[in-house]
Amino acid sequence: MLASTITVPTLIPRIGDGGPRHLEGWRALPTLPAVLFRFLGVVANPGSSDPQLVELIWTDPALLARAMAAVHASPATRNLPVTQLRVAIASLGRERLRHLAYTTPLLRSVEPMRAGFHSATFWERSLLCACACEAVAHQLGLPAPAQYYVAGLFHDIGYLRVLQEKPAALRAVIEQWTARQGDRLEIEAEVFGMDHCRLGAELAAQLQLPAWLREAIERHHSPAPDSDRILRITSIGSAFCSYKGVDFFPARTLSPSLREREMKEIIRCLLPELPEGSASELLAGMKETIAPVRNWISGMLVELQPAATKEIPGYSAGYQAKTVSAGRT
Ligand SMILES: [Fe+2]
Repeated sequence: MLASTITVPTLIPRIGDGGPRHLEGWRALPTLPAVLFRFLGVVANPGSSDPQLVELIWTDPALLARAMAAVHASPATRNLPVTQLRVAIASLGRERLRHLAYTTPLLRSVEPMRAGFHSATFWERSLLCACACEAVAHQLGLPAPAQYYVAGLFHDIGYLRVLQEKPAALRAVIEQWTARQGDRLEIEAEVFGMDHCRLGAELAAQLQLPAWLREAIERHHSPAPDSDRILRITSIGSAFCSYKGVDFFPARTLSPSLREREMKEIIRCLLPELPEGSASELLAGMKETIAPVRNWISGMLVELQPAATKEIPGYSAGYQAKTVSAGRT
């Protein structure tokens, strides 16, 4: 049986294409001041390159959503494969990227912007999930690992709306979940009005994100062994972040060995095509991938250093994944 973090038996209604009225004004997702200030610094630095700008955009759901919208606005690149997305974003040009930087709203927060607080946790979780999903795709030798990265980056965008509009409600959910053994999505639905998966699905529809991405956002807490592979790997990435303690919710299983066993079981359940023993290899690959990224995130959150002084680990150097045979991929 899968861990409670992903076995949520929810029937989440699909939403219409028009987008609900209460989401008006959410055409631009907000981001952290730390991320936006770093991005503004890179934009303003004449010595920085377009690939440096794109690498920073690539780490943030709000900036990437806006860049994707700009790329998809052109008929020539409307249906561009995700593998070509970075090049397409770079080709938007410095002026358009500068405009994007100046018009991306800040995530309002009553908390200090440092590690361990909710808005920072959201950003760290999104980025680590993205890197973990991409690492799994690399290890399985899947085509277009960037697609898995993007799904991981966006999977929890429903929380952005909560963080922006009612951060106290998130605290209330965490307290209720800690006090009683309820289903976290059900508690969210009671407190937020709908859970973060459904909130995220509505945002994704409004932002006109592609269908495969909406599925990962909407159903990452209710995957099945025969679900779409992007959804299954996004669920693994999400569970991996919780396993590593990057979550709004405290872990219910305190023993590290038990948590590791649960994580491997999730991998085995969601990737039944893997040969025996591969779950350990996949998990090791995810851990190896995120270690330098976590250090980079800590640097971003504790200080606003001069722009473009740090490279994002795992991108410029290139992640060298070991291959795990997946039987059918
Ligand atoms: Fe989630």
